[in-house]
Amino acid sequence: MTNNIYFIANWKMYGSTSILNSLNKLINLSKLKKYHKAKIIYFPPFTLIKDLKKKFIKSKISVGGQNCHHIEDYGSFTGSISPKMLKDLGCKYVILGHSENRTAGENDYDINKKILSALNKNLKVVFCIGETLKEKRKKLTYSVLKKQINQGLKNVKNYRKILIAYEPVWSIGTGVIPKSEELEMNLKKIIKLISKRTKFKLPILYGGSVNNKNINSLKNIGCINGFLVGSASLSSKKFIDIIKKTIN
Ligand code: PGA
Repeated sequence: MTNNIYFIANWKMYGSTSILNSLNKLINLSKLKKYHKAKIIYFPPFTLIKDLKKKFIKSKISVGGQNCHHIEDYGSFTGSISPKMLKDLGCKYVILGHSENRTAGENDYDINKKILSALNKNLKVVFCIGETLKEKRKKLTYSVLKKQINQGLKNVKNYRKILIAYEPVWSIGTGVIPKSEELEMNLKKIIKLISKRTKFKLPILYGGSVNNKNINSLKNIGCINGFLVGSASLSSKKFIDIIKKTIN
């Protein structure tokens, strides 16, 4: 791994203000020259975005939203947050297409609309894709990834603002990670599918049960530009360990 390595902390519906002090060590680590290529981005629940922005103000750690509405600015959508609102809070990124939101009803068409709106508001998009266990067993992984990529990225022009997070759904929150060969094969398929759409080389991240133990094997897989970490990112100690083991 040579260029930037992304470390994404996806807090999901966890976290409270009491967690903020535990981030001091991580902030210090991020300032060390050795870790400059670590691009650390936190995705707390909406309620903590402002606190984290303030916490990270003198560091290069970025903050993003875990989802957003497809309407760019304002509208009568109770419970929703727009790309503009995320921007106003100082977010640089948004996660879109996460499997937990796909399971809750988002389809490729909805995700595409959100991606286009987020890009219009100058947000960078962490676009999540991945097959379910059922699809994997039926050997549908390639066709699922192809559909998610082609429909999700329809009409996208600015690929410089897209990061892909490959997250096999059966790996998220289960403690199970794909075998290295399988993971590498799927990442290569993704790279090929993307290369048909743009010459720009998008960062490709892996997500799904990444922790401070399995990171040693995951980091050796070619073509991974970083990791999307869910539950392990709630512990700064574990998250720091993941960063240190990847970069050392
Ligand atoms: P996990 O979550 O690391 O807890 O499996 C990953 C994710 O949110 O995508």
